[in-house]
Amino acid sequence: MFGHDSLELLSLSIDGVTVPDNGWLRQDEVLRLNVSLNDTFELRCVTKINPEANTALEGLYLSDGMFCTQCEAEGFRRITFYPDRPDVMAVFTTTLIANKNQYPVLLSNGNPVAQGSDETSHWVTWQDPFPKPAYLFALVAGDLSCAEDTFTTQSGRAVKLQIYAEAKDLDKLGHAMESLKQSMRWDERVYGREYDLDIYMIVAVDFFNMGAMENKGLNIFNTSCVLAHPRTTTDAAFQRVESVVAHEYFHNWSGNRVTCRDWFQLSLKEGFTVFRDQCFSADMHSAAVKRVEDVTLLRTAQFAEDAGPMSHPVRPASFIEISNFYTLTVYEKGAEIVRMLHTLLGEKVFRQGTDLYFDRHDGQAVTTDDFVACMEAVSQRDLTQFKRWYSQAGTPRLDVVDEYNAGQQTYTLRFTQSTPPTPGQTDKQPLHIPMSLALFDSTGQAIPLANGQLSQLVELTDEETIFVVKGVLEKPTPSLLRGFSAPVKLFYPYTEEQLSFLLTHETDGFARWDAGQQLAVRLLQARILKGGEVDDALPEAFVSAWQVLLERASDDPAMASLLLTLPTEAYLSEISTVIDVDAIFNARRTMRRQLAQALEAQWLTLYNEMGSEESYRPDSSEMARRSLKNTCLGYLMALDSPTYLALAEQQFSESDNMTEQFAALSTVVYSVFTDSAREMLDEFLNQWQHESLVMNQWLALQAADPKSGALSRVKALLEHPVYDSRNPNKLRAVISTFCNQNTVNFHGLDGEGYRFLADKIIELDKQNPQVASRLLTPLTRWKRYDSQRQALMRAQLQRIIESGDLSGDVYEVLSKSMA
Ligand code: ARG
Ligand code: ZN
Repeated sequence: MFGHDSLELLSLSIDGVTVPDNGWLRQDEVLRLNVSLNDTFELRCVTKINPEANTALEGLYLSDGMFCTQCEAEGFRRITFYPDRPDVMAVFTTTLIANKNQYPVLLSNGNPVAQGSDETSHWVTWQDPFPKPAYLFALVAGDLSCAEDTFTTQSGRAVKLQIYAEAKDLDKLGHAMESLKQSMRWDERVYGREYDLDIYMIVAVDFFNMGAMENKGLNIFNTSCVLAHPRTTTDAAFQRVESVVAHEYFHNWSGNRVTCRDWFQLSLKEGFTVFRDQCFSADMHSAAVKRVEDVTLLRTAQFAEDAGPMSHPVRPASFIEISNFYTLTVYEKGAEIVRMLHTLLGEKVFRQGTDLYFDRHDGQAVTTDDFVACMEAVSQRDLTQFKRWYSQAGTPRLDVVDEYNAGQQTYTLRFTQSTPPTPGQTDKQPLHIPMSLALFDSTGQAIPLANGQLSQLVELTDEETIFVVKGVLEKPTPSLLRGFSAPVKLFYPYTEEQLSFLLTHETDGFARWDAGQQLAVRLLQARILKGGEVDDALPEAFVSAWQVLLERASDDPAMASLLLTLPTEAYLSEISTVIDVDAIFNARRTMRRQLAQALEAQWLTLYNEMGSEESYRPDSSEMARRSLKNTCLGYLMALDSPTYLALAEQQFSESDNMTEQFAALSTVVYSVFTDSAREMLDEFLNQWQHESLVMNQWLALQAADPKSGALSRVKALLEHPVYDSRNPNKLRAVISTFCNQNTVNFHGLDGEGYRFLADKIIELDKQNPQVASRLLTPLTRWKRYDSQRQALMRAQLQRIIESGDLSGDVYEVLSKSMA
């Protein structure tokens, strides 16, 4: 049985007979029994633990005075000795006994079946009828308030819904409750999945290593993923709450009813569930906008991970510490794999496949192979090659060239795929790549293809594939990888005219947006090569393309806001051979200013058009409007003009919601008006100092401020009363934001940013290894920078290694990135 150093074993008995001291042995993290055993027996094991001393936030710990648990992946063994593996499933009965006044609320999985009390203490027994692995166990004890509602399932059963939080946050639970009901309805409609217990509980805790956890019937959430109120929460955070609530709810089937055989299969539940929550959000809002957001995350952060020292397959083949594998690859690339299956099989057959999967494997612990086998069974297709997506790491590269033969009226596309070597995997095989494409004629009409449709799914399975279209009357403009139909890097020598053409005529939202991005990337890359700060005027064609976008922006404000945003520093970095931090920052800033200058009147007109006299509503159309309005304000503020400062100040003080207030604050903080910025930051602090989540935003905003001297400002933030070094949200807000987003300062050539991070990791590893290991990421990417920075970064990695006794979490990441 697995255990942990921190467990104190008080007694051990088998079928009522005490096991003598020589009947058991503790070796490292394992408890071994040295007695002969019957086939079935009852083991009683009494252990003592100290949740107060548990700063790792795994197992049972204290969050702001309330007891809570986090058992995925291997936290249960920090509560008691147990065969803590996901394929060991059991029915859990849990009795909690506690002081009545201090801990009036006592929760665990399943249904409350008995309770009682005396003068000072009370107890509750919970029983979960569904056998489950220990990683889904949860308990909570604390002084909590609760919002309550009911949901009637499609078969007519009433489910009690409860969301628990501290009393002061009771007014921030409405959005999560609505999101929960929407998710329950959606899973019934889209997947035919109904909830199975009589009660569904969510508890908000302030100290949490990750986002949230799908414990059976008792989800535990980071407050940042559940609390929402217009006054204190931005639209982006509202949407995050909605999607995380949905994600954890969807796990009830994809994760809990059907779980993972072992942790190598983590993407079985996570990739599938992310795909499900992505589709849910797409249905709730704009599908095209959601796709752009998801691809942006994948193409920057996941591609960077897949090109770095921690690159691993979606189904990893080995690990030292499983916590290090809750990654963008397992989650986001895993979701892309499920999406490709959906694309290849079509909606109807895919649904038959998921029906079969839930039916065939209900109550079992299974593998990604089992999932694909269901898809094979319903589609009668051989997906053997497709499964390489699970086992092969690295981002495939797809090179495309074309040729038009006017005499024969044929158009030929030649696709060549390859995957670069990754650590431990040098030989790569061709993958099964679904390529969605369309061809446009010079009037902007899509040309009918051999399948009679205006677009076609071409399946690329060989290293080289030739695709020929007949009866093409003129050289077309191809649109490739529509909807981002596969997680690959596409290379086709588009001309600027072709990209502008697609930006105007493409009907696929993602492809249209990407054409605009690639157009900007061309210009930015040329400027980055010249050091970034370039005074050359922007090409007229580019400015007029943006002018058209601005003129049409009010047709679809959410999409327009994305179209009018330049590629991020993170994306520009990811596609660089050697990342030139300063040139990237300066090129982007200069181009932003030039776009602001060239189209000043249009930005202002649109800003005013997007204004609203109405009071706040957190719905899609209003969110879109605010998003576009704030994009406009950002450009106007790039002009360093007191007129627009006044506009931002007005928005800051008059808005009735955090989205507008915080956007105004951000543009001023990042502007040249440093006195106004200071005043606004103080005013904001004054207004919101008692709202912990708002203070995270306040901290993060300053940590990301690119002005020089950032490191000393960051160090001052660590001393500020609103900061708390034990709270992962606060650590992330300051340290992670500085090291990941404030690139020009973190990568300063004095090496002090790197030294700062190393100091923090050495300190934090003793407190919370999971969080320490994640913070390490920016240093592990040293190979991507110039030789001077490489040496500085390596020196700090070396210093961490030499600092002494490291956790397995940090050691694994360090050793892989030094190899
Ligand atoms: N299963 C959780 C989710 O919904 C993630 C929990 C991971 N926690 C951890 N400590 N490794 O994605
Ligand atoms: Zn999950």
